[in-house]
Amino acid sequence: MTDREAQLEQEKIAALTALEEVVSTEALEAWRVAHLGKSSPVMQAFSDLGKLPAEERPLVGRAANAVKQALESAYAVKSEQLRQAELERVLASERIDVTLPGRAVQRGRLHPLNQTLREVCQIFRDMGFQIYRSPEVETDDFNFTYLNIPPYHPARDMWDTFYTDKDGVLLRTHTSPGQIHIMRERAPEHIRAILPGTTMRYEQLTARSEIEFIQVEVLVVGKGITFADMKGTLIDFAARAFGKDARTRLRPSYFPFTEPSAEMDVECFVCGGEGCNVCKGTGWLEILGCGMVHPTVLEYGGYDPQEFSGFAAGMGIDRSTLMRYRVDDIRHFRNNDIRFLEQF
Ligand code: PHE
Repeated sequence: MTDREAQLEQEKIAALTALEEVVSTEALEAWRVAHLGKSSPVMQAFSDLGKLPAEERPLVGRAANAVKQALESAYAVKSEQLRQAELERVLASERIDVTLPGRAVQRGRLHPLNQTLREVCQIFRDMGFQIYRSPEVETDDFNFTYLNIPPYHPARDMWDTFYTDKDGVLLRTHTSPGQIHIMRERAPEHIRAILPGTTMRYEQLTARSEIEFIQVEVLVVGKGITFADMKGTLIDFAARAFGKDARTRLRPSYFPFTEPSAEMDVECFVCGGEGCNVCKGTGWLEILGCGMVHPTVLEYGGYDPQEFSGFAAGMGIDRSTLMRYRVDDIRHFRNNDIRFLEQF
């Protein structure tokens, strides 16, 4: 055996010993560069072949080839071992422990105002009413003029209004402008509809009033509709909403768009009519305003008041939800405090 062959044999042993210590892909790469790279002893042996005496070249060449192959296959085996080890490590660390209890998904629910709103809508649906949506941003004409409240009329002061930069454009102060929209769309058909939605008033925030609140407008238009129809409908509504035996009363009132006008009270469901702080000692809770649609409003809606008549009502959802759950401050409803909302 020539010196060169002996050196190669030693290199092989050294390299294979070193490979046993390799436990990472980084170390394996370093090993590959050191023992199979361009300047490794084996590769050097190939490039040095030319400097050897002619008779030694085939012997050394063969020996170098054998070492190179031995190192290459050892490298392949090690590389596969590392890959397997890595895979097992990942599988072990990413294993899903199915015995761990899951994280509970928080169950959402309807906002208390929406609960009341939906119940009111359902009652009217059961009574054969359609549900109609109308815009929250209105013009002066729809919010006031077509409802028989001409410009500069003092009755406009009944509603503190949010006006916009755009002349004649405002945030509706009640759902009543929807009456005009639906009448113009349906005339001369009969109408039996409710119009629920958000309304806004430029008011001082207090425990009992918000700037934003929900109303439900009721509108019936047809031939021969009378005040008795209105009374019957509203009493039926109250019975369905507050219980068969709930007592109600109508008090004369004033609204520019209805004539005659009234307000309906329901017996206080907190004290049963005896008087408490919810009903402020009166035994009654005001739940809605109502009346026979004013002839001028019918005309603006496209109906001939000689032929048609109708009644309208408007009720607030926030105030009744407040009373229903005996919430002490109306501002809780829109504060978005989960601790409050979770109670419903
Ligand atoms: N729009 C009135 C209000 O918000 C309520 C109402 C509606 C009264 C329909 C009569 C008829 O105060």
